Amino acid sequence: MGFKKVLIVGASSGIGKATAIRLAETGASLVLASRNTDKLNDVLSLCQGDGHQVFSLDVKDEQAIDEIVAAAVQFDGIPFDGFVYSAGQEGTIPLKFIKKDFLEDILSVNTIPVVLLTKALLKKGHFSKEGGSLVYVSSVMGGLGQPAKTAYCMSKGALVAIAKALALELASKKIRVNCVSPGMVITEMSEKLLESVSDENKAEILKMHPLGLGSVDDIANGIEFLLSDKGKWITGTDFLIDGGYSAQ
Ligand SMILES: NC(=O)c1ccc[n+]([C@@H]2O[C@H](COP(=O)([O-])OP(=O)(O)OC[C@H]3O[C@@H](n4cnc5c(N)ncnc54)[C@H](OP(=O)(O)O)[C@@H]3O)[C@@H](O)[C@H]2O)c1
Repeated sequence: MGFKKVLIVGASSGIGKATAIRLAETGASLVLASRNTDKLNDVLSLCQGDGHQVFSLDVKDEQAIDEIVAAAVQFDGIPFDGFVYSAGQEGTIPLKFIKKDFLEDILSVNTIPVVLLTKALLKKGHFSKEGGSLVYVSSVMGGLGQPAKTAYCMSKGALVAIAKALALELASKKIRVNCVSPGMVITEMSEKLLESVSDENKAEILKMHPLGLGSVDDIANGIEFLLSDKGKWITGTDFLIDGGYSAQ
């Protein structure tokens, strides 16, 4: 296994929720965070084991990031050795309608908190001296473009770049940093997106995934692998889990 205490941000739904349920099966202690505590408590009730913690966190709140990381370590005196960042928001706006506020908003959820959370986790006493593994959920769109997705692609491509830079900076502490990049998997976020497009677009999206659309478990498998000792020589990579989307 190789991980004992994992912070999962964006754990209330979709990929983060599936990852929480999966990691709890390994015996890890989990710290589940996002804005909606009712949904987080529902996820908690599906997680095996004791000693998990739930925190309400809006990732736009820098002070709250520092506070919850410190409080979660203080709770049981155990430092983290794993981190999964799965919080995110979608955004589809053609260039001519893009405003600076929109760009800043998407970065303030999808990208900037990853750096601030990693920094908070690396403060004295918060992370295991034995090292550990950090996994950021990017997207196939971090490496491939799509019309009207400039902001989303920007926010996800930056995550891959952040993982590479931090992989090098943190290697001496035996901390590995990687991304997983999903193609489309069925979650609240993707269902909303599919509802908003025409039947023709839906057929096109399906065609772009040679193995069909994925499930949240397909992504949780990759995250678990990268957190575990099975991934112990992997750092600074972008693990594409996309049903063949990016092979085309
Ligand atoms: N679904 C896909 O097909 C797909 C494909 C590629 C990449 N991804 C990426 O995978 C990640 C997870 O997506 P998903 O499909 O699982 O989405 P989802 O079901 O909509 O979950 C998004 C999560 O982000 C949290 N979140 C959003 N804004 C937040 C904020 N300001 N502060 C704290 N938490 C916030 C939500 O929690 P609260 O509402 O409780 O705050 C929720 O837990 C995202 O980064 C997404 O871009 C998804």
